[in-house]
Amino acid sequence: MFGKALLWAAEKPRVERLVAQGRLTRPVVKRFVAGDHLEDAIRVIQELNSKGIRGILDLLGEGVTDPAGAKAAAHEYLASIERIEQTGIESTVSVKLTQLGLAFDKGACIDHLRVLCAEAHAAGTSLEIDMEQSEYVTDTIEVFRLLRTDFTDLRLAMQAYLRRTPVDLEGLSEARPRVRLVKGAYAEPEELAFQRSAEVDGQFRFLTDWLFEKGELPGIATHDSELLEHAKGAAERTGTARDGFEIQMLYGIRSDLQETLAAHGFRVCVYVPFGSAWYPYLMRRMAERPANLRFFLRALVRG
Ligand code: FDA
Repeated sequence: MFGKALLWAAEKPRVERLVAQGRLTRPVVKRFVAGDHLEDAIRVIQELNSKGIRGILDLLGEGVTDPAGAKAAAHEYLASIERIEQTGIESTVSVKLTQLGLAFDKGACIDHLRVLCAEAHAAGTSLEIDMEQSEYVTDTIEVFRLLRTDFTDLRLAMQAYLRRTPVDLEGLSEARPRVRLVKGAYAEPEELAFQRSAEVDGQFRFLTDWLFEKGELPGIATHDSELLEHAKGAAERTGTARDGFEIQMLYGIRSDLQETLAAHGFRVCVYVPFGSAWYPYLMRRMAERPANLRFFLRALVRG
């Protein structure tokens, strides 16, 4: 119940003002976000790289509503790609298509993304596309399909909680897509998304098997030990080496496990968010875990 309330609050600017002004929410933010600036995230990824872990750079922000905002976001993504090349860090860049204008100008969003893919390719890295709320799923898949023709290392996040995802994946099977499989982080209605964790986990396992059979370099993005064990089993069954699939996790969550897996030869990638627009991201992390929520509410009340 708390989780649903937080996902609701994640989209409310008035609650955002209240939370953002709370002095003591800072330590909570710090746990999940590298910092306000690109250089903060670069430093975190350098540290991760020194432990054999790759980075996934994430510029915080979503739901841009005008062309100038989309252009500014594209510019910041370009700066991230440039810094990856200059510093030589091992990292991809994850993009949210609503930051590039998907909600109001799909053509411009595709143009921005094409430039970013080309620049990333030239810089020796690649892009990943986050999956956002259900209203954007059809367009996001369409944009991925279009760009995937020229940029085969482009990765798309797909959500196991959505009932439609097996059909969507099957529709992409000819392309042997690179997918990041996640449970799904938004508040979605029952008609569209499984609500019970047993159902989400069941579909996650089914999709994991699918990716090991029909996808390329599967990306299994979860902190859930049982689902990670399932992925390791699928890798063994299909003869996939430990570095032949990715285990992706979020910055600040199960860091010990990230290091242990990397030390055992698994290809571990950590999603490192940076920027000042951290509010919706933080609320989604709070919604995932009651223990975080208690810590957070205490900080909010005191702040
Ligand atoms: P679950 O939430 O069941 O957690 C399993 C265990 O992990 C918990 O018992 C706990 O030990 C630990 N844990 C999980 N969350 C925690 C937290 N917040 N704090 C502390 N411990 C925690 N979603 C989406 O809709 N679109 C996207 O593009 C992405 N992208 C993405 C990239 C990457 C790299 C990851 C790891 C996740 C995403 N997500 C996402 C988020 C995803 O949908 C999901 O909400 C979170 O990963 C949490 O789900 P778990 O699979 O970890 O399981």
